[in-house]
Amino acid sequence: MAEKFYITTPIYYPSDKLHIGHSYCTVATDTMARYKRLRGYDVKFLTGTDEHGQKIERIAEKQGITPKQYVDKIVSGIKDLWKELDISYDHFIRTTDDYHVKSVQKIFKQLYDQGDIYKSEYEGWYCTPCESFYTDVQLVDGKCPDCGREVERLKEESYFFRLSKYQDRLIKYIEEHPEFIQPQTRQNEMINNFLKPGLEDLCVSRTSFNWGIPVTFDPKHIVYVWVDALTNYITALGYGSDDDSEFKKYWPADVHVVGKEIVRFHTIIWPAMLMALDLPLPKQVFGHGWLIIDGGKMSKSKGNVVDPKVLVDRYGVDAIRYFLLREIAFGQDGNFTNEALIQRINSDLANDLGNLVSRTVGMIEKYFDGKIPSDREETEFDASLKDTAKAVTEKVDTLLDKMLFSDALTEIWTLIRRSNKYVDETQPWVLAKDDSQKAKLANVLYNLSEAIRIVSVLIQPFMPNTPKLIWKQLGVSEGEATAWDSAKTWGVLPADTVYTKGDVIFPRIDMKKELAELEAAMKAAQAASVANQEKKAEEEQKEEPVPEITIDDFDKIKLKVGTVIASEKMPGSKKLLKNQIKIGNETRQILSGISPNYTPEEMVGKKVIVLTNLPPRKMMGEMSYGMILVAEDENGELSLASVDKADFADGSSIS
Ligand code: ME8
Ligand code: MG
Repeated sequence: MAEKFYITTPIYYPSDKLHIGHSYCTVATDTMARYKRLRGYDVKFLTGTDEHGQKIERIAEKQGITPKQYVDKIVSGIKDLWKELDISYDHFIRTTDDYHVKSVQKIFKQLYDQGDIYKSEYEGWYCTPCESFYTDVQLVDGKCPDCGREVERLKEESYFFRLSKYQDRLIKYIEEHPEFIQPQTRQNEMINNFLKPGLEDLCVSRTSFNWGIPVTFDPKHIVYVWVDALTNYITALGYGSDDDSEFKKYWPADVHVVGKEIVRFHTIIWPAMLMALDLPLPKQVFGHGWLIIDGGKMSKSKGNVVDPKVLVDRYGVDAIRYFLLREIAFGQDGNFTNEALIQRINSDLANDLGNLVSRTVGMIEKYFDGKIPSDREETEFDASLKDTAKAVTEKVDTLLDKMLFSDALTEIWTLIRRSNKYVDETQPWVLAKDDSQKAKLANVLYNLSEAIRIVSVLIQPFMPNTPKLIWKQLGVSEGEATAWDSAKTWGVLPADTVYTKGDVIFPRIDMKKELAELEAAMKAAQAASVANQEKKAEEEQKEEPVPEITIDDFDKIKLKVGTVIASEKMPGSKKLLKNQIKIGNETRQILSGISPNYTPEEMVGKKVIVLTNLPPRKMMGEMSYGMILVAEDENGELSLASVDKADFADGSSIS
């Protein structure tokens, strides 16, 4: 019977802004799941959504719908994104699923009955976006230590989990199982920053809002969302239901893949809960780093969120998956930039891999009509190529077992680059000119095909589509010659396959042109969602008083100082002026309804404040790229908003 492998992603908070960072976590987990399946494991790959909590309740309330209606709407979008990224999950759990709710209630009751949960009173600080409690000392400048946002003072009757009781057992467990928390640095962090200073009992119920799983024996309480969420890893297997055969088969998890900010929940609260339930602990929690987006000062502000759909539409899913796993060492933070992405596509995919495939198959077509003759003669360069293949295949398994994706890809690319070098060394185009060298030529081209085959096998976990495109060109179908272990053997490719040149697998991208187009596409996608949000906001505004915003909301508003360098009346309009505004290095046309309060002559030379990240808009046949801020008094008089210093540099940002 095949050995089992149970791997999970975190369950995501339902948000319509799932970005490339969320995709990163899921793509990595998917790659691991695919790798283990190829190795013959019986894999269970779980992902899903974490749908309860005050945050969701508040968003839904604002939209005038029930929390369930809200999450239902969002979840289908998340599933679509995973489909687009070829995420091969076996089960998608929603914490609103009936079986999950029932099992969480059962677990809560059991822990209460056995004394691990008790009733008391809670007073502390709560961060709603993080759904986390903090003590006075944990706050940073009075704000949430994790996200920096406002916290609320809460005092309420609550149930508590005896987390403190498990402190010593946890420390001992972590120390005795060095592989439990990965990478190693996160292990030290948990021990020194959380466990050694001492654990307090954890508040595990709330009464101040409703959107959660009710405590069956005290229904005005709902279960703390992290207790609800963490439990998904076992309820998804049927734990606590009539049929727990999957639980028996797959638990304990082989690895929970999580972002570094939630390692704490997975390596302290979750194991303590499992200890209380007398269940085995997961074998490993891997805390990966963050994708830093727009972290570089050099890049123009593109907004905060990179939409994975835009990237997949332009470059294909395999390129995106390759980039995410190659560019950033798993476990560390890494910058996401469009330049780096296009650079990788051009150098690693188009140049190294794409080129190797197309020139090899092209030569086989050209010199041998698509069939390599069986009469072959070795060259002096063969041994080195074969040695590289052997060394690479030996390392890839070990690296993937440790989830060192980037290192594994680097290894695979060693073989690709070695193969390209082999072309340069053997010079098939020279061999082709001499009839007495035909057997050598046949051998060279076979070896290249074989190296390509090995590469195509090894990239399968990372790239779900490219291997098939390669196999088509090599004339092999999925089977013996594409099985994972076949990469370890040289010479598996059948001698008599028919090669057919196909489309270029990864077209080269014109960096300069593409950067501009990509930016525009990102903006358009963002504008579409901003326009959507604006429409929603407008509708809300009608019924509601001005809603409070957070500093994050304000951060989305990109205000800059501009200088009016030209202005004219819009023909046919009483109010609109067509202005050219210099904002640092760029000049934008912005239409503004400020006539007759300002004449075009008065406008020129004025320092104004411009909202720069509005979607472009057409008014009376002219485009407007932003908005000039004006104040309006009770009588409808307008006054331009400006900066206090008349000579202040345009392009300066306002915050
Ligand atoms: O934390 N780079 O959900 P979530 C890398 N519901 N990873 C990122 C990222 C980025 N820029 N942004 C987010 C939750 N992530 C809980 C989990 S599990 C029982 C409950 C990752 O939607 C983040 O690190 O806020 C986390 O692992 C995952 O996305 C889900 O985040
Ligand atoms: Mg989060």
